[in-house]
Amino acid sequence: MHVIVAEDSAEQCRAAADIFERIIREKPDCTLGLATGSSPLGLYRELARRCTEEGLDFSRVHSVNLDEYVGLAPTHPQSYRSFMDANLFDHVNIDKANTFVARGDGDAAESLAEFRAVLAQRARDVQLLGVGRNGHLGFNEPAEQLAAFAHEEVLKESTRSANARFFESMDEVPRRALTMGMADILQAKKLVLIISEGKEDAARRLLLEETVTTACPVTMLRLHPDAVVLLQKKLADAIGYRG
Ligand code: GLP
Repeated sequence: MHVIVAEDSAEQCRAAADIFERIIREKPDCTLGLATGSSPLGLYRELARRCTEEGLDFSRVHSVNLDEYVGLAPTHPQSYRSFMDANLFDHVNIDKANTFVARGDGDAAESLAEFRAVLAQRARDVQLLGVGRNGHLGFNEPAEQLAAFAHEEVLKESTRSANARFFESMDEVPRRALTMGMADILQAKKLVLIISEGKEDAARRLLLEETVTTACPVTMLRLHPDAVVLLQKKLADAIGYRG
């Protein structure tokens, strides 16, 4: 695992953007595994800036997203499809036909079959990740066993509460999601994890311990030969990470 401790959020975003830029320039028709949540927002802004101001070209790039809430139509403002459009796709020259976010509405079995087919067909050159406070990746919640492939997951109440800030009321927060499984995630050629504020416990287990456990899915990054972890100095200091 390669760990980058950035001075601040701007440096963290730039470092992540440098990795994505290198991949896109080296392989213009690459496939990016993308993620939602607050953690990647700065990276997406920086990629959009590089596209507009520096000609970073997304015209042949494909993407596959990690997960989607079950029950939300793509047009729902809190769907991950809406999130991706609003925070990245509408600001770069990507062809939206080349972007895939699983469908949360309609028949879940059909959506899952489609999701699995896309994953089988599109090897990811890089997978971007954030991490839940409890160590979840995508929506792979801590459990005795983790699913290897794309599946439907019942969300933990703590995850629903963490994501409730985006909804009018707790009742509206979806209870289930479709998510890539752990093997899907680990199959990407490279992993880039952005650890943001409030993820001290997960960061501690990933960076200070040497175990791999399904009780904290993010620890599985240690199984990957090319995983990059980006965190800010503030958080590194808070958990006593010295590199
Ligand atoms: C959600 C997403 C994850 C994300 C996590 C952390 O549950 N499914 O992919 O990593 O939240 O989100 P945030 O970056 O907003 O803290």
